[in-house]
Amino acid sequence: MLNLGIFISGRGSNLRAIYRAIKQKKLDAQINLVVSNNPDAAGFQWAKDEGLLTVCLSRNDFTTEQEFISAMLKELEDHGVNFIALAGYIAKLPAEVVRKYYPNILNIHPALLPLFGGKGWYGQIPLKAAIESGMKFTGVTVHIVNEEYDAGPIVYQQPLEIKPEDTPETLEERSLKLQWEIYPYILQLFAQRKIKLKDDRVRILSTQKNNPKR
Ligand code: GRF
Repeated sequence: MLNLGIFISGRGSNLRAIYRAIKQKKLDAQINLVVSNNPDAAGFQWAKDEGLLTVCLSRNDFTTEQEFISAMLKELEDHGVNFIALAGYIAKLPAEVVRKYYPNILNIHPALLPLFGGKGWYGQIPLKAAIESGMKFTGVTVHIVNEEYDAGPIVYQQPLEIKPEDTPETLEERSLKLQWEIYPYILQLFAQRKIKLKDDRVRILSTQKNNPKR
């Protein structure tokens, strides 16, 4: 069972997808805490309305980095979080938090990493760049979070065709639909201990049955 801490900064549609999957019993997890760095995030308001436990932790509200980190670690510990899912969280997770939870920290990214990722590559930016590159495919990546932006071991990738008429908006719409399938699916593989990490490479054990691709 995953006791999730879900980190968001904005819309929170992946948070909602995870919540739905739990309700539908497709994911053996519970959302112990929703963390936002932005009190005005739509996803944060949604989580509160839904009765989920929430906390807003913004670096600006703390005098020192260490106070900020300690507060974050305390919130996670007090709420029994044993797995972190970044879902549109645009700040960098402090290294101390990464070290404490690694490899039980995931992120979902709207591109085929290591292309179109890194600091500042959020929202529609990777999708726009993929269209402008002339590539025929982009995709979705789920990866374990390390201390660098979008750089941890890749768990799963699914390609997504870029059609000639695509705009960042239309591509994002299809990308999000894929993400809402993929993220809960990969989290469930973690819940079932089907993800093995060795030498920074991820291996997924026997997945055929519920693979969203099929
Ligand atoms: C998604 O595109 C996700 O891949 C990226 O940020 C966006 C978050 O969307 N990390 P939402 O807030 O979950 O709707």
